[in-house]
Amino acid sequence: MGRMMKHQSGLSNRFGPWALITGASSGIGAEFARQLAAAKLNVVLAARREILLDQLGRELQVQFGVETRSVRTDLSEPDSVARLVAAVADLDIGLVVSNAGTGNPGSFLHEDRDELLQRFRLNALSHLDIAHHFSPRLAARGRGGLILGGAMGAAHGIPFMANDAGSKAFVQSLGESLHVELKRQGVHVTVLVVPPTDTAILTKFGLDPKTMAMRPMSPRQCVAEAIRAIQSNQSLCLPGATNRLMSALIPVGVARTMMGKMIEQTLAKRIPA
Ligand SMILES: NC(=O)c1ccc[n+]([C@@H]2O[C@H](COP(=O)([O-])OP(=O)(O)OC[C@H]3O[C@@H](n4cnc5c(N)ncnc54)[C@H](OP(=O)(O)O)[C@@H]3O)[C@@H](O)[C@H]2O)c1
Repeated sequence: MGRMMKHQSGLSNRFGPWALITGASSGIGAEFARQLAAAKLNVVLAARREILLDQLGRELQVQFGVETRSVRTDLSEPDSVARLVAAVADLDIGLVVSNAGTGNPGSFLHEDRDELLQRFRLNALSHLDIAHHFSPRLAARGRGGLILGGAMGAAHGIPFMANDAGSKAFVQSLGESLHVELKRQGVHVTVLVVPPTDTAILTKFGLDPKTMAMRPMSPRQCVAEAIRAIQSNQSLCLPGATNRLMSALIPVGVARTMMGKMIEQTLAKRIPA
């Protein structure tokens, strides 16, 4: 059996038959769906834009011969995870990729409280609810995995993205704790510390991938590294050798100030004074 075939059958043996991916309509989530379907896992695709989920689902059925299911959900709504869970109750889910999220760069002084809470529900509480529902089920199977989506720099704070960074820091700590707790139950838990990655979110932030100081990585590389990390049960995955080097060498305070300056400059270009 070739190396790639072994890798694929290893994935579906440990994490199959179904994977659930939130934020699957775009970027990193859509790429998770592609790479997991290529490894012969059936995929549940969850996000708000159902048309995109259905399109991707059809593509994966044809290309890889897997089953797919779209679930329309707005994970910033309070009871959304309960509804998501009900929509997949009949499926044997062995891998959960809790990836959906967003950010809204800006001054904390001008943030609306309701919007802060809405994003906090999406970026933090939905991950908690998803982990809380699926962890006991994966543990009872004695096999499976949970990938939680964090963000590079979030653990130490990101100026002008204070709430979003705080939410992702919570997710990172939650995941690193669960990694140890669930290991003895045969469940792998990995936090994907997402570095700047070339997806639609960059445009939303007003960033142009071509002119960014650090070239963003491809979703393909980001996801391939995350899948290798969950297979070998690493607690944390920061994709990209340069990102790992930078995070090891640059003092936290300096990195935080640099991030803040970069976001402030982007905001200044976006909103003329
Ligand atoms: N790309 C980066 O540089 C970067 C850096 C750090 C962290 N991240 C994180 O990585 C994750 C994936 O982002 P991405 O880069 O792939 O960006 P993206 O292309 O914008 O994808 C975001 C995904 O999250 C879904 N989503 C957003 N709000 C949602 C809601 N209220 N309910 C349900 N789903 C929702 C979106 O689907 P719908 O719009 O269809 O709902 C979409 O599928 C996010 O959590 C993001 O914060 C990305």
